[in-house]
Amino acid sequence: MTTITHAIIPCAGFGTRMLPLSKAIPKELLPLGNRPSIHYVIDEAIKAGIKNIVLVNHAQKNAIENYFDINSELDTQLRNKGKNTLADSLNFLPSDVVITSVRQGKPLGLGHAVLQGRAVVGDNPFAVLLPDVVLDPFDTDYTSQNLAFMLKEFEKTGRSQILVNPVATADIDKYGIAKLANAQTIKKSDKNQSLAVTGFVEKPKADVAPSNLAVVGRYVFDNAIFDYLAKTAPSVGGEIQLTDAIDALIGTKGVDVTTMVGESFDAGDMTSYMQAFMYFAQRQLKEI
Ligand code: G1P
Repeated sequence: MTTITHAIIPCAGFGTRMLPLSKAIPKELLPLGNRPSIHYVIDEAIKAGIKNIVLVNHAQKNAIENYFDINSELDTQLRNKGKNTLADSLNFLPSDVVITSVRQGKPLGLGHAVLQGRAVVGDNPFAVLLPDVVLDPFDTDYTSQNLAFMLKEFEKTGRSQILVNPVATADIDKYGIAKLANAQTIKKSDKNQSLAVTGFVEKPKADVAPSNLAVVGRYVFDNAIFDYLAKTAPSVGGEIQLTDAIDALIGTKGVDVTTMVGESFDAGDMTSYMQAFMYFAQRQLKEI
């Protein structure tokens, strides 16, 4: 039994779908309600049991690391004014969690970004969380559902896990779509479920899509994925695609999809970001 404690979060992209908001502020730091969107993603990883988080970052986006670090001048100033509770609330990370950052100097694709994390992850199995995607922190339980479920499933079976969710026909060409061993149309359920997968097609047209299950942006990988990524040639858009390496992994090791419980929000696209912002703000205003 292998307990997974490493996660890679690729965040080197410029976020062109979020301009002008992302021109001077990394899109991962744009707010959803009262927190930057990546705060929920890091929270999800930690609640699922991750201890070593690797940000794959870009030179112009150091503000992300700074957000999770202790700002000692601010900390001292708040404590000098007796605002200890506020100061404590800004030290987000539990003492056994470490955030490390590596660089992706060139925009060579999601697969290339994940491969940059290898220097920190080493020979361990690991999770990948795409920070554009935020899972509902209000109505799902980060400690037992979705990523936490996938980590347990990997520990039990040794099979890599990829989170998927049924999407409407009109949205199929925005996602990686799973090809299942058996069924093609899966209904949304309130329980996570693992199903064997035989392949993925990146952003297919709806009429040729192999199922209605879209890759959501949470992955749990056997370490062998690194070897496949290292051998993957650039394909669509001249980029090294994670999907191509996953197909190679399916050929040699078992890979399952895990069906998602609850809602996910795309914080990397302006329209869905604005809808997500309203939802998060409304939920948090109710709690005040
Ligand atoms: C990436 C993945 C895709 C996945 C999506 C989820 O695409 O390549 O398979 O469905 O994230 O958000 P991107 O949105 O980066 O183009």
